Amino acid sequence: MIELENISLAYNNHRVLDGVSFTAQFWERLAILGGSGEGKTTILKIILGLIRPDAGRVVVDGQDITGLSESQLRSVRRKFTIVFQEGALFDSMNVKENVAFCLREQGGYSDEEIDRQVETLLKRVGIERAIDLMPEELSGGMQRRAAIARSLAACEPRMMLYDEPTTGLDPLTAENICGLINDLSSGDPGERKGNIIVTHDVVTASKVADRFLYLKEGRVIFDDDLPALLNTDDPELRKFINSLLLIGKEAYPTGG
Ligand SMILES: Nc1ncnc2c1ncn2[C@@H]1O[C@H](COP(=O)(O)OP(=O)(O)O)[C@@H](O)[C@H]1O
Ligand SMILES: [Mg+2]
Repeated sequence: MIELENISLAYNNHRVLDGVSFTAQFWERLAILGGSGEGKTTILKIILGLIRPDAGRVVVDGQDITGLSESQLRSVRRKFTIVFQEGALFDSMNVKENVAFCLREQGGYSDEEIDRQVETLLKRVGIERAIDLMPEELSGGMQRRAAIARSLAACEPRMMLYDEPTTGLDPLTAENICGLINDLSSGDPGERKGNIIVTHDVVTASKVADRFLYLKEGRVIFDDDLPALLNTDDPELRKFINSLLLIGKEAYPTGG
């Protein structure tokens, strides 16, 4: 379980998070929604201990991580994988080397073992045929898939974190990536790997999550399921959803 208790954080006197609290089981499929600059990426970094909050506690699996050293944090980070928004692949390496990078860095794997793992991972994300291609030769969707494969290398995460996984993709490709995200967290609640996806895209969120948090002015002002989200009478949230649903309708003309 992840517990965020009253997290506050400011960057140079600019308050970004102002008492954020929520808890999530590792198997939950959570979306953190919010406009640009509301602190969504910051929350993911705080969960991984990449940023320390000014106030509040983060408890992962019963362990308060706010005061841990870098080396102690490493074992906490292994419970997660994160696919950062930039999805950054190394331009100078082909897909295979990108995915193998963490395995090599960790050491202890033979070349055959690395080959086998990379193949398995690429199959899992559906781009095994791109193994020898360079990042620039990949479509946007394939780049995201490669980034997801890379994040999965060398770890057996309890939960996957995704930062804007569909931003910048065309609707069909975005839908594809949502399918992959769902495949990777399939299984029964309680047993599956869950995910936390942060996004400003409510269409994507609705496809991969069953619990929705809305971040506004540094606080979680909504935390509920999809029907509740679509029926919210909070005017701010309504506006956010409506504008995105409109974009969604244009993007999926035949989808209703
Ligand atoms: N390292 C940083 N230094 C200063 N300001 C930052 C830093 N990272 C983020 N910010 C600011 O904090 C706010 C929240 O950022 P972020 O968590 O990236 O928001 P989101 O992911 O919701 O777009 C933004 O106003 C951003 O400009
Ligand atoms: Mg962000």
